[in-house]
Amino acid sequence: MNLSAADHRRPLSDGNHIPILGLGTYSDPKSTSGGDCVAAVKAAIDIGYRHFDGAFLYKNEHEVGEAIRTKIAEGTVTREEIFYCGKLWATKLVPEMVRPALEKTLGALQLDYVDLYIIEMPMALQPGDNPYPRDEHGKWIYYKSNLCAVWEVECHPYFTQPKLLKFCQQHDIVIVGYSPLGTSRNPSWVNVSSPPLLKDAYLNSLGQKYNKTAAQVALRFNIQRGVVVIPKSFNIARMRENFQIFDFSLTEEEMKNVEGLNKNVRFVELLMWSDHPEYPFHDEY
Ligand code: A2P
Repeated sequence: MNLSAADHRRPLSDGNHIPILGLGTYSDPKSTSGGDCVAAVKAAIDIGYRHFDGAFLYKNEHEVGEAIRTKIAEGTVTREEIFYCGKLWATKLVPEMVRPALEKTLGALQLDYVDLYIIEMPMALQPGDNPYPRDEHGKWIYYKSNLCAVWEVECHPYFTQPKLLKFCQQHDIVIVGYSPLGTSRNPSWVNVSSPPLLKDAYLNSLGQKYNKTAAQVALRFNIQRGVVVIPKSFNIARMRENFQIFDFSLTEEEMKNVEGLNKNVRFVELLMWSDHPEYPFHDEY
């Protein structure tokens, strides 16, 4: 695999390509000002990012779209060079709801198409416009959907997913690893009792060796083994940092050592839905 800042796409079996590094665009609306996302996505395009991971649920798809359209209008990029991934939320897992949900995403983005549209999570909640439906006792309202699951996968040095990766490689399936830096550690959706990935001593020592940070080593590890990563940052210095992973490589032994850091730590456990009949994480992958 030849990965460079200018071209780091992985071919997909349908003839399309996916850039192996993308920008995650979820930012807690409570702590994010309007306009931050537009500025971040524009800066990311200037840095060289071409892949953007978003969702209607994130409430900022209109900002991602505005940034992309501005950069296309300025002539910095073409639509064909951009890869946008949108997501269908759990309250829309009914066949008739898919197209209107996608159209809402396209309307928010003001783009003609998305490059990838995935099921955000394989557990359905009561269909409708309330994204977090609960009954009068505060209990989540689950829904039985007929799901042919398409599922993106948490993946980082503390959760390296060896079995799943091997299976996908054998079947020519590209994995997109979410939370590649170990998340923002927001206690409302992250298991914060788990050890912080970026404080890992070995990742930091490799960083020192290559004059890189633990974050860059964690990202390099995944792209070097073909896993697409979508680190989120709205901070220009960190976006730049996360993009500078094409100018060094880990040795085979270092790759094995990082793989050995695996602790099966899943940061995003979604335990509030652990009694959902389709809860995905009881199964081994
Ligand atoms: P920020 O947006 O302020 O940069 P993940 O992609 O695993 O979900 O992690 C995202 C979190 O990691 C965000 O809180 C983001 O904050 C932070 N982050 C992104 N890049 C880096 C980096 N290079 N070093 C440290 N923290 C980072």
